[in-house]
Amino acid sequence: MFCLAKLVALSSIISISSQALSPDIGDLAGAVSIPPSSFAVLGQNATFRQNGLIQQFNPTNTTPPFFQIFHPDFLTVLGPNAFVRSIAKNATFASGFAFEAPIFNPPTNEIFFASSVFPPESSFTHSNQISKINMTLVENALAQKVADINVPFETLSLPETVQITNGGTGPFKGSLLLTTRGRGNLPSALVLVNPKTPNNATVLLDNFFARQFNSMNDLKIHPSGKIFFTDDNLGFTDDQKPPPSLPSQVYMFDPETGLVRMVADNFVTPNGIAINPTGKIAYVGDSAGITNSTLPSTVYAFDIDPETFFFSNRRVFAYIDSGGPDGIQVDTKGNLYVASGDGVQTDGVLLGKVFIGSDVANMAFAGDGNLIVLANTSIFLARIVAKSAVVSI
Ligand SMILES: *[C@@H]1O[C@H](CO)[C@@H](O)[C@H](O)[C@H]1NC(C)=O
Ligand SMILES: *[C@@H]1O[C@H](CO)[C@@H](O)[C@H](O)[C@H]1NC(C)=O
Ligand SMILES: *[C@@H]1O[C@H](CO)[C@@H](O)[C@H](O)[C@H]1NC(C)=O
Ligand SMILES: *[C@@H]1O[C@H](CO)[C@@H](O)[C@H](O)[C@H]1NC(C)=O
Ligand SMILES: *[C@@H]1O[C@H](CO)[C@@H](O)[C@H](O)[C@H]1NC(C)=O
Ligand SMILES: *[C@@H]1O[C@H](CO)[C@@H](O)[C@H](O)[C@H]1NC(C)=O
Repeated sequence: MFCLAKLVALSSIISISSQALSPDIGDLAGAVSIPPSSFAVLGQNATFRQNGLIQQFNPTNTTPPFFQIFHPDFLTVLGPNAFVRSIAKNATFASGFAFEAPIFNPPTNEIFFASSVFPPESSFTHSNQISKINMTLVENALAQKVADINVPFETLSLPETVQITNGGTGPFKGSLLLTTRGRGNLPSALVLVNPKTPNNATVLLDNFFARQFNSMNDLKIHPSGKIFFTDDNLGFTDDQKPPPSLPSQVYMFDPETGLVRMVADNFVTPNGIAINPTGKIAYVGDSAGITNSTLPSTVYAFDIDPETFFFSNRRVFAYIDSGGPDGIQVDTKGNLYVASGDGVQTDGVLLGKVFIGSDVANMAFAGDGNLIVLANTSIFLARIVAKSAVVSI
């Protein structure tokens, strides 16, 4: 997650296909087709966007949530019966109840998530919280055709070792696997949390050769069992942690041996991270553009060395036009899902967006086809046909 008041607006989906056709959306409800040719020339008197983050790219002025289809391949991601709708909301929970670290726990059919990483919810003196919703209740409500689904959420009571959760993945050997920013002098850490009560926790890593990490952001498990995570300086800029003592970079941790190693550098704000299903390619987003739109807002791809796990052959995968890339997920076909502001372009072609119209920091699959989108005061379900490639062990 990143650091300014106004963040992202939606989830974008990118792939590396290179055609650009006119999407024919047929009867798909809740979707609009936006071929690139329809806005290539806006004219001298057009109203141009001044700020990619605050002014979203919604040329059809459609009321969110809906799907924006920029490329026909998005239709194979969505399938014929796709929809997107709110499933839980709460507008009074400090600064946002559903913000980051979405984790699906298959044994209990629950989604866990952290509340806002911004003050007053997350501060020098206060940690954010982790809550969960029961997906069986969502399925029951859908089956009963409930018009306005709002399932209850339950907030966990967690030990002191869990301080300002910013990222989550897994499960890892049955536990939720978290990156926490830390708070004050309490260190940033990789932490396991029992998804069942009493929600006890075990810290896996809280230092780099006895130096504190700055503030861990996000993480994924590699098929080998190694854990990759990003470390940024947002804990400092959000006034939760002392000044950084390390560069903002990416690390590999081996939970079998305790070995920790820096694997990639040269970032302003390394944020979301994902690994493609082969385990050979890593994606890391630099979200510095959220605070300053002339700074990077780019998702980079890397090759992962199978022996050292160092990242090499850094290349641009996608530029995020609005804000910056936050959480990143991958499906079984290697498509990337990037929580972002508005739009993507590069090397890859933007297939489409799940346009939420409000801040989105992360999303995760809750089983095949159920993309759960965290939008701070609301949780959305995008029912599509793509399948999760997240690794759990
Ligand atoms: C653009 O605006 C100017 C000034 O109002 C007007 O003279 C001109 O005709 C407009 N051009 C187009 C293409 O609408
Ligand atoms: C929102 O969350 C707060 C804190 O858990 C709770 O007190 C409040 O009742 C919730 N509001 C709604 C409408 O669910
Ligand atoms: C999240 O929602 C809260 C209201 O609960 C609001 O105060 C806050 O500004 C929102 N945060 C973002 C980043 O939109
Ligand atoms: C989720 O809800 C279903 C339906 O009410 C219930 O049977 C199940 O026990 C709940 N799951 C958990 C983990 O509480
Ligand atoms: C929680 O406690 C149980 C019982 O002591 C233990 O088996 C489990 O490993 C603990 N889980 C975590 C994540 O600490
Ligand atoms: C944005 O970043 C650029 C490049 O570092 C810098 O020149 C500019 O002053 C920054 N703008 C703001 C508003 O901080």
